[in-house]
Amino acid sequence: MDPHRPVPRSVAAAPVQLFRTRAGDLVRIRPFAPEEAERLGEHVAGLSPASRRNRFLGGLAQLTPAAALRLIGHPDGPVTGLAVERLDDGAPLLVGEGVLALDAHGANAELALSVADPWQGRGIGRSILASIGLRAAAAGARHLTGELLHTNHRMRALAQAAGFAVASHRQDARLLAITRPLDHCPGREALGLAA
Ligand SMILES: CC(C)(COP(=O)(O)OP(=O)(O)OC[C@H]1O[C@@H](n2cnc3c(N)ncnc32)[C@H](O)[C@@H]1OP(=O)(O)O)[C@@H](O)C(=O)NCCC(=O)NCCS
Repeated sequence: MDPHRPVPRSVAAAPVQLFRTRAGDLVRIRPFAPEEAERLGEHVAGLSPASRRNRFLGGLAQLTPAAALRLIGHPDGPVTGLAVERLDDGAPLLVGEGVLALDAHGANAELALSVADPWQGRGIGRSILASIGLRAAAAGARHLTGELLHTNHRMRALAQAAGFAVASHRQDARLLAITRPLDHCPGREALGLAA
C-alpha cells in the first residue's frame, strides 16, 4: 500500500471492537449514531460530579443536545464519538464514551473519555484509550494528545501506563498535557498503514 495515499477519515470510525473486562463483562466499542445524542447526555448527567469535572475539565453541568451532537461527530468529519456498551444481558448498557478529534491536517488527534462511575476500575478506560489510539492511527494521525486536570491521578496513571508522556499545559496551569506518538502503534501495521 502506498504510505502517502490519503486515508479517509471514516477509517477512524469503522471497526466495532469487542473485549472482556477483567471482571468478565463483554463490552463493545463502536461509533455513536447521531440519534443517540440524548443517550450520551444521560451518560454525562449520570456521572458523579467529580467524574464530570474531570471529563470536561471543570466547567460543565449538563450536556446540551447540540453539544452532544458535536461530541458524536460524523463518520466523514474530524470528530468520532464512541459508544462503549456492556452487552452481556438485556439491552446494551452505555457504560462509557470516548471522543477522538483530528486536527485540520489529520496529523494530530485529540482524545477524551469517560467511564460511568460504577464501571470504573475494570479495565474499560484502558480499552477505550487503546481503541481511540488504534482509530487515530488508522486515520493517519501521527500523535495522540489530551488534556486533564492536574488532580486527575487516575487518568494520569492510565495515560502513563499506555505510553503517554505527561507535561505541564502551556496555557492553563490547572491542566496537564498528555501526548503519545502513533508511528509504532500496532494498529498501523495491522491495517497495513505503517509508513
Ligand atoms: C479516567 C477513567 C477514564 C479511567 O477509566 P477506568 O475504566 O476506571 O480505568 P481502568 O480500569 O482501565 O484502569 C486503567 C489504569 O488506570 C489506573 N487506575 C485505575 N484506577 C485507579 C485509581 N483508583 N487510582 C490510580 N490509578 C488508577 C491504573 O493505572 C490502571 O491500571 P491497572 O488496570 O493495571 O490497574 C475513569 O476514571 C473516568 O471516566 N474518569 C472521569 C472522566 C475522566 O477523568 N476522563 C479523563 C479526562 S478526558
